[in-house]
Amino acid sequence: MKPIKVGLLGIGTVGSGTFNVLKRNQEEITRRAGRSIQITMVADLNTDRARELTNGECEVVSDGNLVVNNPDIDIVVELIGGYGVAKDLVLKAIANGKHVVTANKALLATHGNEIFKAAQQKGVMVAFEAAVAGGIPIIKALREGLTANRIQWIAGIINGTTNFILSEMRDKGLDFDVVLKEAQRLGYAEADPTFDIEGVDAAHKATIMAAIAFGIPVQFDKAHVEGITRLQATDIRYAEQLGYRIKLLGIARRTDGGIELRVHPTLIPAKRLIANVEGAMNAVLVQGDAVGATLYYGKGAGSEPTASAVIADLVDITRLATADPEHRVPHLAFQPDQMVDTPILPM
Ligand code: NDP
Ligand code: HSE
Repeated sequence: MKPIKVGLLGIGTVGSGTFNVLKRNQEEITRRAGRSIQITMVADLNTDRARELTNGECEVVSDGNLVVNNPDIDIVVELIGGYGVAKDLVLKAIANGKHVVTANKALLATHGNEIFKAAQQKGVMVAFEAAVAGGIPIIKALREGLTANRIQWIAGIINGTTNFILSEMRDKGLDFDVVLKEAQRLGYAEADPTFDIEGVDAAHKATIMAAIAFGIPVQFDKAHVEGITRLQATDIRYAEQLGYRIKLLGIARRTDGGIELRVHPTLIPAKRLIANVEGAMNAVLVQGDAVGATLYYGKGAGSEPTASAVIADLVDITRLATADPEHRVPHLAFQPDQMVDTPILPM
């Protein structure tokens, strides 16, 4: 069978991880996908670095339009980030009939309704496992593993940078700014790290999870968002003395009046499992009516953990795109016409 051809937009932290893991585990991935998945084209502003990273193994261009307009490309992987160029290229890829994989939670939380509608109309898939909790397959768990459940609430540590900052401040007594710089060096932080420390990134992720869990449109503008910038070392110390840990939680909860969507620092008893999630690790608790509470834990940020989720989406799309279209289950995309517009409660 012909290989599936992938065009990569952006070969930075996550893009390079995706290229490397796909190459390293090519044999297993091909076996699992049923066909070989090959990155044949890469677009990045820094073409020299992109050529070096890809060892001359694929075509490198600086303009993403050349990727999304290339008739040979089957799947476009968007790893540029932000809402500007990324949105334009994703919509063009969809209009050109290409499936899309993205890790861009900012884009989906703010423009997801438009993007998924366009994908549905065109009959293509948009997959985004990497957009929430890095390497943890939480989107798959919500959409597939827990599909029998009425989800009651989701609560999680879903930003690696802030969890890393809180852990390092508590354990090593380091200053906020010093740890933030280290999180940036390690590739955890967003291009604009205020998204991490002000809770915006966690709210993007909570918005996406709420949309899937409760079947509602993405409504990021209605989320209550508070980050960790007002916390001081003394808050962390006092919490510790009282037997608590401070964690930045993203919460989406079903209530009689509608859905609550919020992100804020939370005091958690130190003996709880989630209070002991340290560093850039993430953990998401999901309460379903049939299964009860379930917990998902793993690396929430970084090059290869995130690449793991990007490639899982590539494999899923390859399997589905290879299946007879009549038997394809469009489970990778939201289905906007089936959404219930539940009010998100003001905080
Ligand atoms: P990086 O900044 O490391 O990589 C982005 C790459 O895209 C850079 O190489 C950048 O080039 C390039 N780029 C920027 N603008 C353009 C353009 N117009 N055309 C082509 N290439 C362009 O970001 P990350 O890899 O960290 O993040 C990518 C996406 O993944 C973001 O949406 C992020 O939120 C998401 N994500 C990141 C995670 C992480 O741990 N880092 C985890 C989960 C999701 P240049 O450097 O020259 O600007
Ligand atoms: N900046 C994000 C974080 C990357 O720190 O969690 C993973 O989404």
